[in-house]
Amino acid sequence: MLSACNRLQVRHLLLTMPLVSHVKARGKLYPGTSISRQPVPDDKVAWSVPFPEYCPPSYTTPVVLQMPAWADPDYSTFANWNVTPPKYNQLDGSVERRSHTGEYMVIENIPRNPCGRTGLLGRGLLGKWGPNHAADSVVTRWKWIDGKVAKKDGKPVMQFVAIQRRDCGEWALPGGMVDPGEQIAATVKREFCEEAMNSLSLTKDERHKLQELISTIFQHGEMIYKGYVDDPRNTDNAWMETVAFNFHDETNDSIGCLPLRAGDDAKNVAWLDVDKEQALYANHSMLLQNVAHLKQAHW
Ligand code: BGC
Repeated sequence: MLSACNRLQVRHLLLTMPLVSHVKARGKLYPGTSISRQPVPDDKVAWSVPFPEYCPPSYTTPVVLQMPAWADPDYSTFANWNVTPPKYNQLDGSVERRSHTGEYMVIENIPRNPCGRTGLLGRGLLGKWGPNHAADSVVTRWKWIDGKVAKKDGKPVMQFVAIQRRDCGEWALPGGMVDPGEQIAATVKREFCEEAMNSLSLTKDERHKLQELISTIFQHGEMIYKGYVDDPRNTDNAWMETVAFNFHDETNDSIGCLPLRAGDDAKNVAWLDVDKEQALYANHSMLLQNVAHLKQAHW
């Protein structure tokens, strides 16, 4: 196992990795629509590289334009011309508008994606201009076969709790958006209970007991990522960021044996092997890779 000092160094490296260039955030069609992004060549993603032909379309989904509680107003419409813009790059009331990547640029009240061009203006499916904050849990255990931890390429194999997202059908880590004023640790637990344990179908008492159990089990999480997410919903003006924690069950007797039941935004839940071939939503594969490296497990 890594020494405590090495672990800190590895963690420092993982948390300070260079910003990802867009891959999923440059997908041809915007998710759930027939809107095409303007193609952005790899070498033109960075804002610092001139791209005079860059004139992307703008799209914000009608649901967001109707301004539900979780969405900001649209400044481009006449009806909202006199609405005070959000307080970017700071805690705006209870809404976190600071980015994990540092200070982002705001041009004429509209934030600019710190990781470069995406081929689309507006907010797409995202409610907030600028960073939209999420939190994820990477719940892991060792894979046991015939009383022994399974090995691949000489390394022990891990398993993680995966949910299948209802919106796109892709497998993902349990996680979700941080509500205004909510502590990230609370988001992680709430989303895990809702998506992987179907807590929303429980009675108030049952839910309370489950939350207490999860709180105890989730006491010793390790942060494995904090930063920008290459999410297919990102635009030039709105993007996803996340903080992810690993909760590892070394002896397979706590989280490793909890009954899983899909709920809320998840249509399936399962223990899957940690392996680079497993396709996952957004940057979740990279989050798992971080955990595999920290635990010196098969990847
Ligand atoms: C998901 C998180 C994900 C984040 C960024 C959220 O909608 O629930 O699991 O990390 O988006 O992609």
